[in-house]
Amino acid sequence: MPVVAVEGRPRTWAAHTPSSTYVLSAEEDGRVVQWYWGPRLPAAAVAEVAGDRVSGRFASGFRPDDDLVELLPVDGGRRWGVPSLQAVYEGGVRSVELTFDSAELTAGRLDLVLLDPEYGLRVVLHLRVHDDSDVIERWVTATATTGPVRLLRLDSGSWPVPESADPVYLGVAGDWALETQPHRGPLPVGETTFTSRTGTTSHTANPWIMIGDAGEEHGRVYGVALAWSGSWRLTAQRRAEGEVAVTAGFGHDGLAWDLAPGESLETPPALGLVTDGGYGAAGRAWHDYARRHVLPHPREVRPVLYNSWEATWFDVTEDGQLDLARRAAELGVELFVVDDGWFGGRVDDRRGLGDWWPNPERFPDGMGRLFDEVRKLGMRAGLWVEPEMVNPDSDLYRAHPDWVLHWPGRRRDTARNQLVLNYARPEVREWALGWLDRLAGDYRLDYFKWDMNRSFTQAGPDDLLWIEHTRGVYAIMDELGARHPGLRIESCSGGGGRIDFGMLRRTDVVWTSDNTDALERQRIQQGYSHLYPAGAMSCWVTDSPNPITGRRVPLRYRFHVAMAGALGVGGNLGEWSAGELAEAAAHIAAYKEIRPVVQHGRLYRLGGRPGAERSAVQYVHEDRVVVLAYNPFTDRRQAPWRLRLAGLEPEARYRDGDGRVWHGTTLMEHGLAVPSWWASGDDYRSDLVVLTREP
Ligand code: GLA
Repeated sequence: MPVVAVEGRPRTWAAHTPSSTYVLSAEEDGRVVQWYWGPRLPAAAVAEVAGDRVSGRFASGFRPDDDLVELLPVDGGRRWGVPSLQAVYEGGVRSVELTFDSAELTAGRLDLVLLDPEYGLRVVLHLRVHDDSDVIERWVTATATTGPVRLLRLDSGSWPVPESADPVYLGVAGDWALETQPHRGPLPVGETTFTSRTGTTSHTANPWIMIGDAGEEHGRVYGVALAWSGSWRLTAQRRAEGEVAVTAGFGHDGLAWDLAPGESLETPPALGLVTDGGYGAAGRAWHDYARRHVLPHPREVRPVLYNSWEATWFDVTEDGQLDLARRAAELGVELFVVDDGWFGGRVDDRRGLGDWWPNPERFPDGMGRLFDEVRKLGMRAGLWVEPEMVNPDSDLYRAHPDWVLHWPGRRRDTARNQLVLNYARPEVREWALGWLDRLAGDYRLDYFKWDMNRSFTQAGPDDLLWIEHTRGVYAIMDELGARHPGLRIESCSGGGGRIDFGMLRRTDVVWTSDNTDALERQRIQQGYSHLYPAGAMSCWVTDSPNPITGRRVPLRYRFHVAMAGALGVGGNLGEWSAGELAEAAAHIAAYKEIRPVVQHGRLYRLGGRPGAERSAVQYVHEDRVVVLAYNPFTDRRQAPWRLRLAGLEPEARYRDGDGRVWHGTTLMEHGLAVPSWWASGDDYRSDLVVLTREP
C-alpha cells in the first residue's frame, strides 16, 4: 500500500514511492502539515519523523506559526506568508478558518476533507502516488456549500522543501524563439515568482522549479511542476531563517473566481519529486513519469516528419505541396504535414483564421487528392490548425463577433492580426469540435499540428474563462482522440509557448521553438530536457542560412542536433542539392536505427554548454547507447576530448561502430576518445556514436 496511516499518531499518513517517502498529518487546529519529504524511510522509521519538530526555536508574536510546513496555507489566522488559498465570503468577510473533517484512504490515494463551516467552504486536499514513479501528485477541490464564495487564489498546494544551507534553484525562462533557457542561481531570501499571464503556459517561463544544491549527476534535488496549460503562478519563498516552500497553481494575480452554492473548482495537479543524483537523475525521473503516466502513446516511436512551413510560408499550392511531398518521401520521411496557408482566404497572416475549409482558389477540389497522393507515397498525412483563433477578416468573425475574448466598451487589440476565441463558451467548443472532427474524418488525417499564436488580452467577462478556456482545449483534444484513435496531435504555440504536463497528457509531440537555428536550438533543447522527454520534442532540420538567425550551419550538424529528439525536416527541399538530399537521406536512415534509444531511452547530459562549446548528450535504452557529440567552434586551446559516458553497466562490455569492445567502466571512467575531427580546424563538428552491449 503506497499510502498508509501511521500508527501511534492520529490523522497522520505516509506516502511511499519506490525511492521516496512523504509524511503528512492533519493537526487538531485544522492545518495539514508535512513532516518529511525525502529518500524512502522504512515503515518503522516513519513514526519517528511524524511530529518531530525542532523545539526551542526563537518564537515571537511576529513570527508565523510554521506556515511554511503547511500543504495549503490559507489567507487567514496568524499567517503572513504567501497563501495557497485565498477566499472572500459573503459580506466581504475574509480570513479562512478550516477544520479537519474526514480522510479517505484508497490504494495510492489520500483525500483530506477540510471545512470552513461558518461560511460554507469545503476544501479537499488530494494526494496520489504510483508504484512505478517517485512523482507525487497533489491537487485541491474547493466547493461553496451554503453561500457564495469568491476565490482569489486556489493553488494546487504548497510544497515545503526541507532546509538546505544554500538552496540553489533551477528553472527555465525565455521568449519567443528563445524558449526554455536554463537559469540557475542561489534562491533569494524573499519570494521568487515565476508566472504566466498570457492564458497559456507561455514562452517567458515554464511551470516548474527545482531546488537543491546539486550538480549534474550528484546531489539532492526537489522539484515542483504544475500540469497546466493556461496562466499560472509559482512562488518559491525562502525565509531569512532558512525555511523554503513552493506554492503553485493555475491563474495569475488579480483574478477572482466566483462559486455559487454547490459549485466547485478543482485545480490541476502539482507534481513533486525528490531525487538523489543531481539534475540528471531528476530529469530522468521526470521523463519516466511522463512516459508512464502522462503521454497518451508513450510506446510508439514518432515518425520522421516533414513540415512545409519554412519551405512555402503562406504560399501553399497543391502542386507545391505535392512536389515537396515527393521529395520528402524520397528522403525517407514518414509523415507529411501541410502547415499554415491552406484554408479560407488565408494568403497571409491578416485573414482567414476561423474559416476552416480548403482555400477555394488554392484547392478548388478540396485537399483529397493531395492527401491521397501523400498516402500513395507511403507517408501519413497531417494538417496545421489554429482552432482557438480568429482574424477579424474572416467569415467566422463577421458571423460571431461576440465569440472572442472581450469586455464591453473596451478595445479588442489584435496581435498577429488575430483575436482569441472564448473556449469557455459551449457553442465555440461545439463549433471547433465539429470542423476538426470533419477534417480528421473526411481526409483520414493522422496528425494535427494544433497551434496557438496569441496571448489573451482584454479577456472578459468572467475570470473563470482563464480556466475554462484551457479545459475546453483539453476537452476537444480528448474527444478528438476518442473519436479518431489513430490521430496524433502536436502542440504548438508560436513554437514552445504551451509545453507542460497538462498538454503532454493529450498530445504526442510539442513544437519546441520557431527557432530552428541548430546552435540556438541546442540550448533550448537542453532547457526542455530538464523535465520533458526527448521523444515528445519535435525538432526539424531547416535551411541554411537559417531564416530567423541567418546563421550558416552544415547539414550534418543540423541533423545531429535535430536527431536529439523526434526528428523532422522543414527545409525547402526544392533548393537542396543532390548531394544534400543524399546526405539527408543517409541521416534519416541512421536516425531510424537509433530512434527507439533517443525517444525512449534514459538521457544523460554529458556536460559542456550546448551551442556555446563542445557538449554531448547520451541515451541508454535496453542494450544500446547513443551519443550525440557537438563542437560548434574549433579552439586549439581545447584539450583532446574524452567523453566519459554515464549510466552503463560497469561490468558489461560494449561494442562500438568499429567493432572495438570496451568495458562499461572504461567508457565511464576513462572515457571514449572522440574522433580526431576535433582538431581538423573546422567549426560545427558533430558526431553520432552508437554502442551495443554484448550479450
Ligand atoms: C507559428 C508556428 C509555426 C508556424 C506558424 C504558421 O508561428 O510556431 O511553426 O506553424 O505559426 O503561421
